[in-house]
Amino acid sequence: MSKGAFQRNILITGGAGFIGSHVVRLFVNNYPEYRIINLDKLTYAGNLQNLTDIEDKPNYTFARGDIRDAEMLAALFRDYSIDSVIHLAAESHVDRSIKDPFTFAETNVMGTLALLETARRSWLPSPGGEIRDEAAPAPLFYHVSTDEVYGELGFDNTLFTEETRYDPHSPYSASKAASDHFVRAYHDTYGLPVVISNCSNNYGPYQFPEKLIPLFINNIRNKKPLPVYGKGENVRDWLYVEDHARAIDLVFHRGKVSETYNIGGFNEWKNIDLIKTMIKVADRILGNPEGTSLELITYVTDRAGHDLRYAIDATKIQKELGWEPSLQFEEGIEKTIRWYLDNLEWLANVTSGDYLHYYEQMYGE
Ligand code: NAD
Ligand code: TYD
Repeated sequence: MSKGAFQRNILITGGAGFIGSHVVRLFVNNYPEYRIINLDKLTYAGNLQNLTDIEDKPNYTFARGDIRDAEMLAALFRDYSIDSVIHLAAESHVDRSIKDPFTFAETNVMGTLALLETARRSWLPSPGGEIRDEAAPAPLFYHVSTDEVYGELGFDNTLFTEETRYDPHSPYSASKAASDHFVRAYHDTYGLPVVISNCSNNYGPYQFPEKLIPLFINNIRNKKPLPVYGKGENVRDWLYVEDHARAIDLVFHRGKVSETYNIGGFNEWKNIDLIKTMIKVADRILGNPEGTSLELITYVTDRAGHDLRYAIDATKIQKELGWEPSLQFEEGIEKTIRWYLDNLEWLANVTSGDYLHYYEQMYGE
């Protein structure tokens, strides 16, 4: 298909990561009329082996690059006539942000700013400059963010809504909050068409095994300790990653410009209860007597600044865009555990670092 033949040219950043790979897959498969350009730096968290099933599709292109590189971005927007961005590239792990906050500010804040500026220069006419082609699709900058920008809740029934005041605590959430603010500032100041969604904790296939669920599945399999921070009483709201990708599809197509949409599973779990549920399911699948892996639970020093509870009120996206989570947690966690145990090669590659060579093998660089 020639360049001009696509209805839209969508830049998805961070498409080789966990959530990004599900979003890329959904868009490439469901919208052959769109060209999807996946821009990813391939940090430790980026893995092109997450996308082997769609890498040969005619509407898919991979570009390796850093979202902070303004020159590269300008060339990409020009060469591919980018008319929309779905921005997921980020440093995403709270524990790493505690050790190395600067990388989080650089990627999540400065990288987002570089993308916003490139979009502004490409899409908005400068005074006296070229008027946009009226026939071209309406541009959109969609920023994918987290519920962690809202801070923490107590053990009551309160939920984060779109009106909750920002109150980030970790360097990760502070950097995401800053990037959300820049996105809104580009709308309010320059008129850039933007939309933001803030989602709760995702789980499912292709998540890097540094995050709770895949780390613990891998450790149960290898009979290694399961490090529970503090007393394991912190609460998270978990959403199956494909349900998040469907929500992103809806917000992209039907979300109102300048609005925010909260996305969550209405599925709160105290960490220790979640861990015991995972152990039960994993032991059953592995053929271990019930409770075998409970002895792997190891309470360790709590994470610094560990947010007590996150919980999302997703009423707005339900009511306005008709989105619902499709999977019950029991079904989702079983599916997820089975996926990791059935994809031992993927797991071995990410834990050994072999996946980092896939780009060179595929693209010969
Ligand atoms: P991830 O860490 O799995 O993937 C991030 C991707 O971004 C990787 O492919 C990495 O190579 C790429 N990347 C990092 N720095 C880059 C740079 N400078 N230039 C280009 N690419 C770069 O993250 P994830 O869990 O898939 O999260 C994706 C997005 O969704 C993030 O913005 C995150 O804040 C947000 N989010 C995540 C969750 C969650 O539970 N994981 C929940 C809500 C929101
Ligand atoms: P994580 O998957 O890192 O996501 P986030 O910090 O963004 O919520 O952690 C989920 C919860 O599990 C969080 O409360 C911290 C806790 N946790 C542990 O107890 N042990 C671990 O080894 C990890 C990685 C997380």
